[in-house]
Amino acid sequence: KQSDNQLIIDAGQKQFGATTCGSCGMLYSPDSPEDNFQHTQFHQRFLDTIKFVGWKKERVVAEFWDGKIILVLPEDPKYATRKVVLESSELGFQQITLSSPSSAKTYLFINSDRMVVGCLVAESIRQAYRVLEQPAKDKDMSKEDFMEHHRAWCCSTVPEKALFGVSRIWVFSLMRRKSIATRLLDTARATFIYGGHLTKEEIAFSDPTPQGKLFATKYCGT
Ligand code: ACO
Ligand code: ZN
Repeated sequence: KQSDNQLIIDAGQKQFGATTCGSCGMLYSPDSPEDNFQHTQFHQRFLDTIKFVGWKKERVVAEFWDGKIILVLPEDPKYATRKVVLESSELGFQQITLSSPSSAKTYLFINSDRMVVGCLVAESIRQAYRVLEQPAKDKDMSKEDFMEHHRAWCCSTVPEKALFGVSRIWVFSLMRRKSIATRLLDTARATFIYGGHLTKEEIAFSDPTPQGKLFATKYCGT
């Protein structure tokens, strides 16, 4: 029996007979003891992490029929900022390197089951090139190629302009394609700068993932 499971894993066929847990969203093979174990480990921990117990002074910045968005600021009490840090490490973000941590604002989407199902970390960035900075592999591209290559996901290439940088955006896997990311961004644009409403042209996504690019292209294109 053991060797059978080993074979499945060795062949990289984890997908075979795999199922997605309806609560935590993990993809695993119920037939594999190893997978079952990992799932049990992950399941409760994950649900505990995204559970939102509520804070006395939560800053609700938007409300919807299926949830609300709250804003957490760097100067907020420890319990709030701690939640954000905990969450981002549990959700597998690499250490977020913010260019100006004191300006970072975190928007959390809380659904009607009181779970944090979406998170957006935004910061103000002064220059577009910060966002466009790329790893070495792009170094010998011409400027035109570079711009062409990045146009899809970086909505503004105008330097020296106040920009709204999306450092991180995440939506719980089972809740995707329900406009949660869109609503987080819309809300952030409306509330990021006091009294100002940022346009879609002023947004830059830093170091996006393939999914992030697909989303950014759609979001900025409309
Ligand atoms: N594939 C193709 N198009 C997509 C995808 C996708 N995976 N995700 C979003 N879009 C497009 C669609 O056109 C969608 O509209 P539609 O559903 O009507 O077709 C539109 O973007 C709006 O999508 P939302 O529903 O608002 O986006 P969602 O809430 O699903 O969140 C996100 C998108 C945040 C990218 C989510 O898939 C996610 O958390 N992925 C894993 C984490 C990640 O990669 N985050 C981006 C990192 S980049 C960064 O942080 C700067
Ligand atoms: Zn689960």
